[in-house]
Amino acid sequence: MNTVQKITFLGIGNVGFALADKLVNLGHAVTIAARDLTSATVRTALERNPKLTARPLTEAVTAADIVFLATPFPAAEAALLSAGSLSGKIVVDCTNPVGPGLSHGLNNTLSGGEFLQNLIPDALVVKAFTIYGFENFENSVYPGYGALKPAMLVAGNDASAKHTVSDLCRQLGWEPVDTGNISMSLHLEHMTLLWIKMARVQGLGAGFVWAMLRR
Ligand SMILES: NC(=O)c1ccc[n+]([C@@H]2O[C@H](COP(=O)([O-])OP(=O)(O)OC[C@H]3O[C@@H](n4cnc5c(N)ncnc54)[C@H](OP(=O)(O)O)[C@@H]3O)[C@@H](O)[C@H]2O)c1
Repeated sequence: MNTVQKITFLGIGNVGFALADKLVNLGHAVTIAARDLTSATVRTALERNPKLTARPLTEAVTAADIVFLATPFPAAEAALLSAGSLSGKIVVDCTNPVGPGLSHGLNNTLSGGEFLQNLIPDALVVKAFTIYGFENFENSVYPGYGALKPAMLVAGNDASAKHTVSDLCRQLGWEPVDTGNISMSLHLEHMTLLWIKMARVQGLGAGFVWAMLRR
């Protein structure tokens, strides 16, 4: 029996909805932290899964233990700073700083994960759900590989927060792989660019992920 987590979503578009939909169906208490309760993405999400509820931004964040950040990266700073206190909360950073021509948006030196952890130092930022397209969050099943699950790479400074997020990854059908502290986000963000270029530019399509083989 899984612990019911109190989760809210900042951003409920492609990525936010795919994850919120699955998590609420798993029995977690999932809300949408809405800056605008009437926005198209909020209304669409509520229509697509009536088990979701939307609450004003700070009210939803205050009530949650886990905040999924799924806004465009350029909107992330404003979204976090308007969210109220995030002290002690787990912030799952699903964003990717993508620059012109599918380059790294922070000039390949500072990761988005570190940038956000520095912005909210009292929060426990865990980078996760970034390295594949949202289609794989809608459906993480790859039949024919036995017990082998697709890998979800995570990074963060707090072991307990990573443990909690890893548990959610498992419930969503992924094998969580702890890559290290939040500075590892830089490499995860480059893996995202690799995946996007292969899937969406070179035409391979969204139906592939990576797996972790060990011996
Ligand atoms: N698309 C993918 O396949 C994929 C995969 C992995 C990670 N990512 C990353 O995940 C993030 C979200 O991508 P997406 O494709 O889900 O984007 P999206 O469909 O455009 O949805 C973005 C969401 O963020 C909200 N938002 C925008 N500005 C905001 C602000 N200032 N404050 C609060 N909320 C704000 C939007 O709300 P409104 O509708 O009200 O504007 C919308 O709900 C991005 O950082 C992206 O790089 C994307």
